[in-house]
Amino acid sequence: MQIQENYSLIKHNTFHLDVRARWFVQYDSEEDLKRLLNDEYFFSQTFWHIGQGSNLLFLGDYNGIIIHSGIKGIELLKEDDKYVWVKAGAAEDWDSFVAYCVEQGWGGLENLSFIPGEVGASAFQNIGAYGVEVSEFIDSVHTYFLETGEKKLFTREECNYSYRHSFFKEVSNRGLYYITHVIYRLNKNPDFRLDYGNVKASLEGKEVNLKNIREAIIRIRKEKLPDPEKAGNAGSFFMNPYISTIELRELQKNYPSIPFYVCDESRVKIPAAWLIDQCGLKGKTYGGAAVHQKQPLVIINSDKATGEDIALLGEEVRRIVYETFKIELQPEVNYI
Ligand code: EPU
Repeated sequence: MQIQENYSLIKHNTFHLDVRARWFVQYDSEEDLKRLLNDEYFFSQTFWHIGQGSNLLFLGDYNGIIIHSGIKGIELLKEDDKYVWVKAGAAEDWDSFVAYCVEQGWGGLENLSFIPGEVGASAFQNIGAYGVEVSEFIDSVHTYFLETGEKKLFTREECNYSYRHSFFKEVSNRGLYYITHVIYRLNKNPDFRLDYGNVKASLEGKEVNLKNIREAIIRIRKEKLPDPEKAGNAGSFFMNPYISTIELRELQKNYPSIPFYVCDESRVKIPAAWLIDQCGLKGKTYGGAAVHQKQPLVIINSDKATGEDIALLGEEVRRIVYETFKIELQPEVNYI
């Protein structure tokens, strides 16, 4: 277990905000975690568990304990003719894990290449990209329940997954379960997903296999999304909003080319990037924060931004989009 006092979180959030935690605790095993959950001092403080900080916005210093898992390891649990079941520690770097699965010839996660973050967060957030959500490939999730200090295993159904949502994100469960391991069920004979955006076009002339799909996804992401090492960001700042088909028909009167994805008979999802773009907000700044020029759904730390700059710019974007379209954007980024 590593314990640090007055610790800079600059390397633990991809906005690269130099905020401090009163305490930073990293547990490296389940035994460490059990010790932490039996500690009275720990429970007398405010505390929050983070992953790689790729979806977090710190609004200021954290006067409590920031906890991070150091539990690593990748293990092939079992296999049959069609599938493999792979167990990964919550602290495994997500993209290294995807690369490993692609190398082994295990299909499913390749469209989720190059997403910053860790294995634990993939199961918490239900990360998704290029026509795939990770929940499709999650078999079960190992956790510790804070209220009793006991282990609890969640099946995929119990995780209650939907778009960028899980049981663990629900208000009444938030912060109460620490994910230690995730078990994924991956395909030995993958069915490739190439229908989203320009994935198929990026593979032109190349054999369709896991490695080439992964490379195409990495190319597409590098083109569109800012590198957090150069301009701190947390990927999409907002979720894509759902609206009813009735609202869509109303909007189509003024915006006949509005893009949408059909969800069911009564609902569609609108790309928030399009709404923000239509409001002319690309490049808009507040303090050191800016709306990214190429993908306006991303807010970047362009020049020594504070958490407040980023939050206020986000609020301004939300307000303008609401005034223009009467659609409320919900942040995907978690504020601390
Ligand atoms: N668009 C514009 N102007 C732009 C950019 C995009 O109008 O400058 C419109 C276009 O109509 C485009 C549409 O927005 O077709 C969708 O854009 P894109 O394909 O880039 O995807 P997105 O909906 O903005 C989502 C995820 C991303 C994920 C991509 C690819 C959310 C909130 N975001 O973005 O996830 O990588 O799809 O699948 O669902 C993340 O969550 O951090 C993230 C990056």
